[in-house]
Amino acid sequence: MRVQDLVPSSLILQLFLLLLLLCLYRSHSIPLHAMAPDISPAADPQPFLPLLAPSPLTPFTTGILPTLSGLCRLNFSAAESIMMVTATDCWASFAPYLANVVCCPQFDATLMILLGQYSKSSGVLNLDATNANHCLSDFEKILESQGANNNLRKICSIHPANLTEASCPLVDVNKFESIVDSSKLLAACGKLDHINECCHQVCQNAILDAAKIIAMKGTSGTLPVNSTVDDCKNIVFRWLANKLDPSSANVVLRGLSNCKVNKVCPLVFPEMKNLTTECGHTRSNQTSCCKAVESYVAHLQEQSFITNLQALNCAASLGMRLQKANVTQNVYYLCHINLKDFSLQVGSQESGCLLPSLPSDVTYDKTSGIGFICDLNDSIEAPWPSASFVPAGSCNQTTKLPALPAATSAQSGLYMKDLMFPYLVISSMTALNLLVCI
Ligand SMILES: *[C@@H]1O[C@H](CO)[C@@H](O)[C@H](O)[C@H]1NC(C)=O
Ligand SMILES: *[C@@H]1O[C@H](CO)[C@@H](O)[C@H](O)[C@H]1NC(C)=O
Ligand SMILES: *[C@@H]1O[C@H](CO)[C@@H](O)[C@H](O)[C@H]1NC(C)=O
Ligand SMILES: *[C@@H]1O[C@H](CO)[C@@H](O)[C@H](O)[C@H]1NC(C)=O
Ligand SMILES: *[C@@H]1O[C@H](CO)[C@@H](O)[C@H](O)[C@H]1NC(C)=O
Ligand SMILES: *[C@@H]1O[C@H](CO)[C@@H](O)[C@H](O)[C@H]1NC(C)=O
Ligand SMILES: *[C@@H]1O[C@H](CO)[C@@H](O)[C@H](O)[C@H]1NC(C)=O
Ligand SMILES: *[C@@H]1O[C@H](CO)[C@@H](O)[C@H](O)[C@H]1NC(C)=O
Repeated sequence: MRVQDLVPSSLILQLFLLLLLLCLYRSHSIPLHAMAPDISPAADPQPFLPLLAPSPLTPFTTGILPTLSGLCRLNFSAAESIMMVTATDCWASFAPYLANVVCCPQFDATLMILLGQYSKSSGVLNLDATNANHCLSDFEKILESQGANNNLRKICSIHPANLTEASCPLVDVNKFESIVDSSKLLAACGKLDHINECCHQVCQNAILDAAKIIAMKGTSGTLPVNSTVDDCKNIVFRWLANKLDPSSANVVLRGLSNCKVNKVCPLVFPEMKNLTTECGHTRSNQTSCCKAVESYVAHLQEQSFITNLQALNCAASLGMRLQKANVTQNVYYLCHINLKDFSLQVGSQESGCLLPSLPSDVTYDKTSGIGFICDLNDSIEAPWPSASFVPAGSCNQTTKLPALPAATSAQSGLYMKDLMFPYLVISSMTALNLLVCI
């Protein structure tokens, strides 16, 4: 059942504003039903979150200074402004819906930057297990005090072990620089070409080479296992964050994680029996097939904001599953399924909201509140995958899919043709949880 069927959207908007105010003062759960009787319907809903151009951040805070352990050796002041960006990117109730594209990539980058800065004084690119524990919880406390979600460890699946060296055998900055060609690495990664890096992988290959070299340190000539190379990649990231100033490092690290982000579909596909039953035969009933498709897509829409390239991958992924289940007709065409139908729906018009394919941040402005850029208008039909399907975000995307809403508009510095703002996420009961601060 849809929320709009239950409550006029202006009422929900008021509820949200009221709850937000309360959330700023108190940070525990407020039962929604307790508020309802006090609220009378208002006039036309105003956009709650207007479009915010990236602006100097002045994040609100809960006003509660966090009590830190005193046992963490990271210098949080060294990445103060980056941490404010992170707190906003992982803003309380939005964090779960922006986890994959915005919040967690920024969260991870910030930790790497803190570790990189730390290595300048310590000479090592890791924390020991005890320090890692204290540092992760102090880090979370600081972010929370700046408005971030209080469950980031779970949302971003990060553990204290992620701050240690894990299985990488080399953590000493001097030793690192004695065996890795640092100038080559810096040349490849110091200034990332955001548009071409995901395809040409200049920096990613340099990082992999360096990681393999330091991973070899622990073995006597045998090839290191992949998980060790992965752990050593983290050490290489931290080394880069040692060499670059925090904001440059942030740009590079977000650019690199973005390549991974755009290559996949982060949505979880529920059981599709209804779909295959209704659409499975070529002579199936179009009305009931499309009903099943719409119902299925509505389930997907409860999950997460995604980028336009991710939407392409999701369309392809669902399409291939359907084809495997003998749904041969192009149900996207048949049922007018657009790319933005794969995204969380926003606003009273229930529009999809695709995030840009380049890294983006949530912004905060004292007068307008929390905002982020997304495209509500692109009505690009979801492409039905063919046998020669190439994942979006890989090299051949532009040649295979000319109608891409992706890099072309981003390249010129414009995010999308029509920038609007979701004022409220009200597509489902699940999304209504957004309104309750915990
Ligand atoms: C922490 O970082 C700040 C800003 O970079 C710097 O001024 C300060 O000296 C550092 N503190 C320590 C203990 O290194
Ligand atoms: C943290 O460590 C876990 C387990 O080693 C790993 O699966 C996960 O990808 C790591 N997270 C990050 C952000 O590196
Ligand atoms: C290790 O990584 C290489 C290259 O990324 C890959 O080809 C290989 O299959 C991986 N091996 C395992 C056991 O995952
Ligand atoms: C298709 O199914 C709908 C109900 O889902 C029904 O009203 C309609 O008559 C069916 N059309 C055909 C051609 O069977
Ligand atoms: C499948 O159909 C049943 C009955 O129509 C419905 O209750 C269920 O929610 C549907 N499942 C999905 C994933 O759409
Ligand atoms: C798809 O159709 C083929 C041939 O009709 C059949 O052998 C196969 O079991 C079907 N697959 C599924 C998942 O229904
Ligand atoms: C964007 O969508 C709105 C509402 O659906 C419509 O009025 C407007 O013309 C659209 N703009 C573009 C550029 O498509
Ligand atoms: C990408 O395109 C080039 C030339 O257009 C082709 O040679 C190459 O095989 C393609 N790569 C993939 C993965 O399809």
